[in-house]
Amino acid sequence: MTKVLVRPEMAGFKPYSPGLSIDEIKKRYGLPRVIKMASNENPLGTSPVVQERLKNMSPMAFRYAQAGSPALTERLAAHLGVPASCVVAGNGSDEIIDLLLRVVARPGVDNVVAFSPCFSIYDVQSRLCGVEFRQAKLNADFSFPFDQLVSLTDENTALVFVTNPDNPSGHACPAADLVALASRLPARTLLVVDEAYIDFAEPLDVFSMLPHLDAIPNLVVLRTFSKMHGLAGLRLGYGVMPEWLADLLLRVKLPFSVNILAEQAGLAALEDDIFVSQTLRVVSEGRRLLERELSALGCKVWPSQANFLMFEPPMDARVLFEALLALGVIIRPLGSYGMPEKLRVSIGNEEENLEFLTKTAEVLRGHDRHS
Ligand SMILES: Cc1ncc(COP(=O)(O)O)c(C=O)c1O
Repeated sequence: MTKVLVRPEMAGFKPYSPGLSIDEIKKRYGLPRVIKMASNENPLGTSPVVQERLKNMSPMAFRYAQAGSPALTERLAAHLGVPASCVVAGNGSDEIIDLLLRVVARPGVDNVVAFSPCFSIYDVQSRLCGVEFRQAKLNADFSFPFDQLVSLTDENTALVFVTNPDNPSGHACPAADLVALASRLPARTLLVVDEAYIDFAEPLDVFSMLPHLDAIPNLVVLRTFSKMHGLAGLRLGYGVMPEWLADLLLRVKLPFSVNILAEQAGLAALEDDIFVSQTLRVVSEGRRLLERELSALGCKVWPSQANFLMFEPPMDARVLFEALLALGVIIRPLGSYGMPEKLRVSIGNEEENLEFLTKTAEVLRGHDRHS
C-alpha cells in the first residue's frame, strides 16, 4: 500500500543520526550530571546578550516575522561587506542547502558532487530531490582530492559541496585552492562552500571564501549561527550567493521559516563581540589541550581548524564511546560517517575538557589492564 502512496525516492531513507541528548543519557544511566561534547555546539552556552534580547522580545512571539528577515539580512550584509540582495537567511544553513538543491537541480537529470565522508544533509536532501549524489573519497590524511572531485562532474552537475573546515575531520584547505577548483568546474555548476566552522579557522583570511564572491560568479558561501554564535536550538543560518540566485531562493522559501525570536537573537549575537572573542579563545585553547592530551593517551588525533577533533583511540572506539556514556560524557561515534574506528569530540569549556580527558584516561587504563 505504502509503495503506491509515496515517491520512489523514499526507499532506503534512514533518519538523520544526531548527537545523543543529555536527558536521554541521564535517564538511561541514572546519572545526575551529564556533559555533551557531541554536536559542536558553543562551549559557553547562550550569550547573556542574546538571552536578554530573547527575554525582551518574548512578548512579540504572537507576531509573524517579516518575510525574508530583512533586518537581519541587512545587518549581516553590513557585517560581511556584501550586498543585502545576496544574503538569504534560513532555518539553519540546513534550510539553505535544501533550497539550493530544490531551486537548481533537476530531478532525474542533474547530479550533485561532494566528498566522502561528508555532512549527511547534502546526500539526504539530494536523494529526496530525485537527484544523483556522487562522492569522491577524501585522501587518507583527509585532505581534499580535487582532481577526483572534478572528474565526477559533467554538464549535469548542478552543485558541488565542499565543507571547509571539514566535518568530521576538521581539515581545512586555503581559499586559494577553492578558487582554483571553481575555475575547473562546468560553467553551470554552483560551487557551494559550507563554512559552518570557518570562524574557528586560524588565520581566518587564509580560509574564507567571502572575499572571492565578486570574482567567482557561481560561488555560494554557507554560514551558521549554530556554532560560534551559540544559537543551534533557535535554527539560524544563511547563504551568500549571486543576486539572481538569492532572488529565486526567496521566491520559494517558506516565508516565516526564520522565526521572530531567531531573527532578534541573530541581531543581538552580531553585536556581541565579547562573546565571540571569548568563544574563540576557549575553543582555540581547548583544541590545543585536547589535541595534546589525547595524543599523550595514545590516540591518533587529526589536526583541526574547527571546534571539534576527530581521533582514533587505541581501543575499540565503540566500546570507549559507550563507556564514556555510562560515565556521563557524550561524544560522537563516527559509524554513521563510515568510520566506526574513529570518534569526534566537540571542544568544551575548561571543566568539560578536563572531565572528558580524565574519564577517557580512566577507560583507556581499564582497557589496558584487561588486555
Ligand atoms: C558541515 C555542516 N554544515 C551545516 C550544518 C548545519 O548547520 P545549521 O545548524 O545552521 O543547520 C552543520 C551542523 O552540524 C554542519 O556540520
